[in-house]
Amino acid sequence: MKLLASFLLLLVFAYATQDAPPYGPSQFSNIGTINDLTVTDPSDLFSGGTITVDGISMIIPNNSYVTLPSISVMWSELFVGGAPQLPQFGAPGVSWEATVYGNRIGDIYVVALVYITQSSVRIIQGFVNAIDLGTGEFWVAGTSAAPGTGIRARLNDPVGRYGLEYLDHPLWTVDAESPSVTAATGFPLCIPRYANGTDDPLCPLKNRVINGGVPTFIQFKTAATRSTTDPDPNVMAPLMVGDYITINGIEVGDGLLAVYSLVANLGLYTAPRETRKCNVPLL
Ligand SMILES: *[C@@H]1O[C@H](CO)[C@@H](O)[C@H](O)[C@H]1NC(C)=O
Ligand SMILES: *[C@@H]1O[C@H](CO)[C@@H](O)[C@H](O)[C@H]1NC(C)=O
Repeated sequence: MKLLASFLLLLVFAYATQDAPPYGPSQFSNIGTINDLTVTDPSDLFSGGTITVDGISMIIPNNSYVTLPSISVMWSELFVGGAPQLPQFGAPGVSWEATVYGNRIGDIYVVALVYITQSSVRIIQGFVNAIDLGTGEFWVAGTSAAPGTGIRARLNDPVGRYGLEYLDHPLWTVDAESPSVTAATGFPLCIPRYANGTDDPLCPLKNRVINGGVPTFIQFKTAATRSTTDPDPNVMAPLMVGDYITINGIEVGDGLLAVYSLVANLGLYTAPRETRKCNVPLL
């Protein structure tokens, strides 16, 4: 009887084990929360490192690119002096996430493709209820009659493509080449750069047509038919208080959302068959 009891105990507590994976390499695709990330040699642009996603430690090989919301950089460029440049990493309520694809070599996860962003599924929609032309900050999803309520945001625009420059977190930038700040029709939008009443020639007020106090859609005229006072499709159109927008961004602390993508519910249409460059320099 005693023997049977210890045999049963053995059954309950024994693990099935194996000495090696049944086959390999095997593929993995994981999506999860980043617990940790390191770079092996911060002084080497091409250095790999490690990333831990949902508790699983993975190798980032040398020469790896990492894809961020708008740009791709070398793995080492995520770090300054070995410290990851992920704003608010580890702060309560802030989730930095990775999508990783790769191969398990033996029991080691070796990453081939890696995508990183903060709160990857977050989308914020609402009306713009105030814009501070002095700083380029705007407020969204607040109370209409109370300017400055809601989420405080600004375009994360290190080169000043869509308005005033913002240099603090360049990894999490807007896309300055293939516009990520646009009307729903794809036309690029901007925030005027001057708070002193001067019209910004790269972001002129004439590119928003007001009809009965309400901004309306624009059908730009062709080069042959438009005058100097008509809306000009060669420059962007200003975002305005009252616009309904969809934004993605990252929390950078102090209640500020640094926006990398903005789409406004606006109809701005270029003339049929007319090409347009919108002050984006040719590369
Ligand atoms: C990766 O780069 C580091 C230096 O950053 C170097 O020490 C190491 O040997 C490299 N690994 C491979 C597999 O080339
Ligand atoms: C407003 O500021 C801009 C940029 O500093 C300047 O070029 C412009 O002359 C200013 N306008 C007025 C009215 O002061």
